[in-house]
Amino acid sequence: MQPTRFNLDIANNKPAVVVTGVSSGIGLAIARRLCEHGYVIFGSVRSDEAAKRIGDDLGERFRALVFDVTDRAAVSQARRVVDETLGERGLSALVNNAGLGLFGPLEHLDDEKFEDIIGVNLFGARNVTNAFLPLLRRRSDARDQVGRLDATGSPRKIINISSLSGILNTPMNGAYCVSKHALESLGETYRRELMPFGIDVVSIRSGPIESEIWNKNIAEDLPFQDTPYAQVAMRVQGIMRKAQRESALPADVIAKLVQDIIEGRKRRTAYELGEGSKTSIVLSRYLPTRMADRLIHNALTKKTRMKTPR
Ligand SMILES: NC(=O)c1ccc[n+]([C@@H]2O[C@H](COP(=O)([O-])OP(=O)(O)OC[C@H]3O[C@@H](n4cnc5c(N)ncnc54)[C@H](OP(=O)(O)O)[C@@H]3O)[C@@H](O)[C@H]2O)c1
Repeated sequence: MQPTRFNLDIANNKPAVVVTGVSSGIGLAIARRLCEHGYVIFGSVRSDEAAKRIGDDLGERFRALVFDVTDRAAVSQARRVVDETLGERGLSALVNNAGLGLFGPLEHLDDEKFEDIIGVNLFGARNVTNAFLPLLRRRSDARDQVGRLDATGSPRKIINISSLSGILNTPMNGAYCVSKHALESLGETYRRELMPFGIDVVSIRSGPIESEIWNKNIAEDLPFQDTPYAQVAMRVQGIMRKAQRESALPADVIAKLVQDIIEGRKRRTAYELGEGSKTSIVLSRYLPTRMADRLIHNALTKKTRMKTPR
């Protein structure tokens, strides 16, 4: 679809970035920040209404792409649009942000919803990465001869918006944990495959961030009440709501980190941040697994304080 205000000429030679899921939350914050700093942003949304709303909001440096990340044909079509628009310029970065949450015990999750979350958070990220890789590779190929750098002063980047749930598995959060652990594996494998092309892959694993994602997924007042998990479900729901209310970071914290990664000021392969990050690192990396199991169990059954990762 043709945006109302997009104008590539105003941003000639500015780095171009694709961001998925810019209709709200973290994706919108990333698109906004990068537009404000002179980038050309191609942001994915899922409706013409969102394309117009975000286009009007972000202005001339923003172009909406309308696709669902699970629809490979639509993603390919969007790639063609970006390709034709940028030509030899290629892309500087891709941010895989589009994602879903899903609350509940693995045993009682709706099968279709379980498949949907894997479809979006994992298959969707691969669909989009594969589609846009040729544009990232073109950019790095072009610059490899002169040192792999462009106007950002940094190699091409794929940034995956993962989660602390990509490193720590927690009850009632299983589908999301599975999807984000798989995204971690996907990202690490891509990084090792893409090294020869000068394309880096970085993971952002945060705790709660101000957005609607969990309101969309834990809206039920008394979740899974008719199951043996009712008590734990209520406890986890309470912890998550409290964390979202009291300690969620503004989405621009992630946007700033994305900008720093793209511009080469942050060079690690992964970043953990926000409420629960230290707990998640200790439980997943440093404690014996049986001890981590016991601590999580106690926290959810015995009123022990626990910070739940997202
Ligand atoms: N908020 C947190 O606490 C938190 C913490 C750690 C990681 N994250 C991750 O951050 C990312 C962004 O989440 P958010 O918190 O900003 O939530 P959000 O406001 O709900 O944004 C999610 C975005 O993904 C899009 N999306 C969902 N399904 C899609 C699909 N099938 N195809 C294309 N786009 C799709 C949504 O578009 P629609 O508007 O069309 O649905 C929306 O733009 C997710 O990957 C999430 O896992 C969030």
